[in-house]
Amino acid sequence: MASTSHLSILLFSLLLLLAATSPTTAKNPRALVLPVTKDASTLQYVTKIAQRTPLVPVKLTVDIGSRFMWVNCEQGYNSTSDRKVRCSSPICPPLRGCGGNICGLGPDNRISKTGTFGDVVTDVLAVQSTDGSNPGPIVSVRRFPFVCGTAFVSQGLASGVTGMAGLGITNLSLPAQFASAFKFPNKFAVCLSSSTNSPGVIFFGNGPYVLLPNVDVSEPLVYTPLIKNPVNTASGFLGEASADYFIGVKSIKINGKALPINKTLLAISEEGKGGTMISTVHPYTVMETSIYKAFTSTFVKQLAGVTRVAAVAPFEFCYSAKGFVSTRLGVRVPQIDLVLQSKSVVWSMFGANSMVEAREGVLCLGFVENKPHAYF
Ligand SMILES: *[C@@H]1O[C@H](CO)[C@@H](O)[C@H](O)[C@H]1NC(C)=O
Ligand SMILES: *[C@@H]1O[C@H](CO)[C@@H](O)[C@H](O)[C@H]1NC(C)=O
Ligand SMILES: *[C@@H]1O[C@H](CO)[C@@H](O)[C@H](O)[C@H]1NC(C)=O
Repeated sequence: MASTSHLSILLFSLLLLLAATSPTTAKNPRALVLPVTKDASTLQYVTKIAQRTPLVPVKLTVDIGSRFMWVNCEQGYNSTSDRKVRCSSPICPPLRGCGGNICGLGPDNRISKTGTFGDVVTDVLAVQSTDGSNPGPIVSVRRFPFVCGTAFVSQGLASGVTGMAGLGITNLSLPAQFASAFKFPNKFAVCLSSSTNSPGVIFFGNGPYVLLPNVDVSEPLVYTPLIKNPVNTASGFLGEASADYFIGVKSIKINGKALPINKTLLAISEEGKGGTMISTVHPYTVMETSIYKAFTSTFVKQLAGVTRVAAVAPFEFCYSAKGFVSTRLGVRVPQIDLVLQSKSVVWSMFGANSMVEAREGVLCLGFVENKPHAYF
């Protein structure tokens, strides 16, 4: 995997020197920031991180609930500083494989629904620090753990992407590893743009999270507890907890009226099914069939005055854009409220959030049904 050349050794020494004189060694950064762009052809959220010796930019698709970072080590992985992790290392989790005393985990790709098995490896990783408003120096971690994936498991990723960035509830995920390397709290903030033209960000560590001049977005937000699912339903080891983040949706309202749905489905069952999972790899909200039916029939009834046009996959309910009135929050459509831990805590969605321009002049309700064999 690693290839040695005089050039890379020279650059490696230079990097060590930079690391030694960078402020990180004296003072840990308050927070880190990664850029996130939405890939226009796959709708994946893609971040870029610098890794290896010499450092190269590595593009990764963000999977908020996956267990660790993995990169394709089969193709184009050149580094003089990569090291395999032994099974006895504290980095190696209790549930893992161990062949030839090398720690092994199963990198997966929830977009192509593929998985493999690979070595846990460490290498240099470099990221931008921030005080929450302004960029700070680039800081690096000498031995940042990740898992080696393959070309097979990289299929279906956006162009130029060679792995995935996992932010899930594990000790190996990016937020946990950054928190441990830089001694800041294990927390992160994600701002994902719905537009492929304007970027989003991920902050690791403490706020403020200043996205517009003098606006700390952590102030006006609505807060809800994240819920853990004790049963892993993604790939991984039997008996493992899920690394995904769930929120407690108690009911769904359209224009203030609760939908008649089976509330049992909103809670996580003993088998780890149901509940409301946060995902960065599904481009549109996916609903269980009976909820999708109740939701779309109510929404569509309330839009009876607007001209329906032919469906544009993957959407079922599409309208002529001319039939809508524009507002500051997108076109005027029935308001969708996800009611959270109490009646007063709601996640409200307006036209800008619920309607997708699937084709020029055509707006579709941007929710999809969870069909076992659908493309998402
Ligand atoms: C990796 O190193 C090999 C051998 O030196 C070289 O042929 C190849 O182009 C390098 N690949 C990248 C992505 O730098
Ligand atoms: C993280 O590591 C600690 C100590 O090794 C362990 O007790 C804990 O269960 C781990 N947490 C996760 C989410 O794996
Ligand atoms: C509600 O959903 C649960 C879980 O799928 C199911 O066991 C139960 O029978 C459903 N209740 C009704 C009234 O359909």
